Amino acid sequence: MEEKNVLVEWEERYSVGIPFIDDQHKELIKMTNTLYEGCLQGDEAAKAYFKDTIRGAVDYVKYHFAAEEQILDKIKYPGLSKHKEQHETFVKQVLRDVQSFESGKSFVPNVFVRYLKDWVLTHIAVSDKMYSEYIQNMKKKSGQKAQA
Ligand SMILES: [Fe+2]
Repeated sequence: MEEKNVLVEWEERYSVGIPFIDDQHKELIKMTNTLYEGCLQGDEAAKAYFKDTIRGAVDYVKYHFAAEEQILDKIKYPGLSKHKEQHETFVKQVLRDVQSFESGKSFVPNVFVRYLKDWVLTHIAVSDKMYSEYIQNMKKKSGQKAQA
């Protein structure tokens, strides 16, 4: 079944080299999978499930973004403002979806969960990898300085 593709697994190649951020990413993936599993139980069940879990999920996402931004700010990551922008755009989009869900407007759990999955994966594998590489380079450079 094509639907199966939605389930995501964290892989070592997604590691950003910061264990607690990796743990948060794993949690995001787990949440995506849980929402997806909710979707498999049919539209009504999915909606009931979303009602119970969606706000908590949004809060966790915000908490994770704040943690990430704090680190990037501390190391003066040059791509921080762009990265922040991506976070903000995502939160806005998700909140729009959540609002239309809560007000009973059109909301298709499957479409939402797919968007979530694509965004989370791309973000972790591409954007977060960029700051991860920046941190690795920084470490290398400071290692060279220490040796000199
Ligand atoms: Fe991020």
